[in-house]
Amino acid sequence: MRHLVSKAIESLPKLDSGQINNLISILAEEVKDIELLEMVLSSLPFGVIVARPDHYIQFMNIPVKRMVPLQQKGLDKLKAWEVILDSDISNFVKESLLEAETVKPRDFTLETLNRDITLAVGVMPVVKEGSIQGDFIYIEDVTDKRLEEARLRRAESLAAMTTMAASVAHEIKNPLGSISIYLQLMQKSLNTDSESCRTDLEDYLSIISEEVERLNSIVVDYLFAVRPMDTHPIPTSINSIIEELITFVQYELMEAGIKVEEYPGKDLPLLNLDEKLIKQALLNIIKNALAAMENGGTLTIRTYEKDNMVHMRIQDTGIGIPADLVSKIFEPYFTTKDNGSGLGLTVVYKVIKEHGGELRVFSKEGEGTTFTILLPIPQTVNKLLVWKGETI
Ligand SMILES: Nc1ncnc2c1ncn2[C@@H]1O[C@H](COP(=O)(O)OP(=O)(O)OP(=O)(O)O)[C@@H](O)[C@H]1O
Ligand SMILES: [Mg+2]
Repeated sequence: MRHLVSKAIESLPKLDSGQINNLISILAEEVKDIELLEMVLSSLPFGVIVARPDHYIQFMNIPVKRMVPLQQKGLDKLKAWEVILDSDISNFVKESLLEAETVKPRDFTLETLNRDITLAVGVMPVVKEGSIQGDFIYIEDVTDKRLEEARLRRAESLAAMTTMAASVAHEIKNPLGSISIYLQLMQKSLNTDSESCRTDLEDYLSIISEEVERLNSIVVDYLFAVRPMDTHPIPTSINSIIEELITFVQYELMEAGIKVEEYPGKDLPLLNLDEKLIKQALLNIIKNALAAMENGGTLTIRTYEKDNMVHMRIQDTGIGIPADLVSKIFEPYFTTKDNGSGLGLTVVYKVIKEHGGELRVFSKEGEGTTFTILLPIPQTVNKLLVWKGETI
């Protein structure tokens, strides 16, 4: 359209009045289009700055002016970051624009007269036919959103603590009850003053000491499960971790008659993982699978990428979990095993949450169980924003 108009302007002297009339109405339409676009951009609930490829400002909507302190004059002679008076946001925009890649949006807190506000700022290249036409900077007021997220996190952790506390109370009831019974028996033995009193007392004392040991491990396990984990994530290949783990348990699997099938996803991105914790979590799942396949079976491990997450599916052909118990398996101390602590999956859940991931389970009694772990891919490079029309 612009090309057509500039050609028409060049040949203006040769045009008759009808043609000039036509040109004016085309121009009026064009102006209307731009006005409409500006109106739409300005009624968005977030701030938008469009910068040219040389980083000078091409357009800025009204919400930006309300959200961030800005230079008031000579905007068209300033680069995008020079307009923003807040030095942290300005530096972030400058670095993002000069890096020419999409950088993960970042939160900034600004002090205002009434309250602190949190702004999420992101920068994306505008691409047309494969070449960068400029950049799109967006600023969103996320103050309420972040407060709500923090409130939900607190509520979630409070609910988890309450469940844990209830489970601990339930767990310590048994050893405490047994200690109390044996103390009464000791009292009785002392009263009778019989021959066998000494041996009885020794037996009772050893049982009491075992129960005290049990109490101690309940408290230690509880503390391990509730304490914030000290994670040290570094870029790691999930396929290598799985490979190492399978090598580690291969003899145990072989002895149990379990076949392993691995389908590692190709070209998976590195993930920010605390290797030790992730290994521990995967090992807990594999050990459960092993226990569920007492008469042998197949353990299938698959990794693949989907929706900005890496998925890891660990499937067994074991006994499965009854439908009414599936919702309980992540609860601390829930176990169906004689010698299980019931904390294995609690730890798995916590480790995955600490990594910003998700955990899903699907099970069918008598057929097997599948655990799927979803881990986020670090977002240094996002998808490019493609501008299909003309440049703004
Ligand atoms: N792959 C599986 N197949 C069948 N049941 C499972 C599987 N994984 C977990 N479960 C069920 O979930 C329960 C809880 O598992 P969790 O790992 O938390 O504790 P545990 O295995 O019983 O004890 P621990 O892990 O301390 O040895 C198990 O007792 C079992 O009933
Ligand atoms: Mg377990």
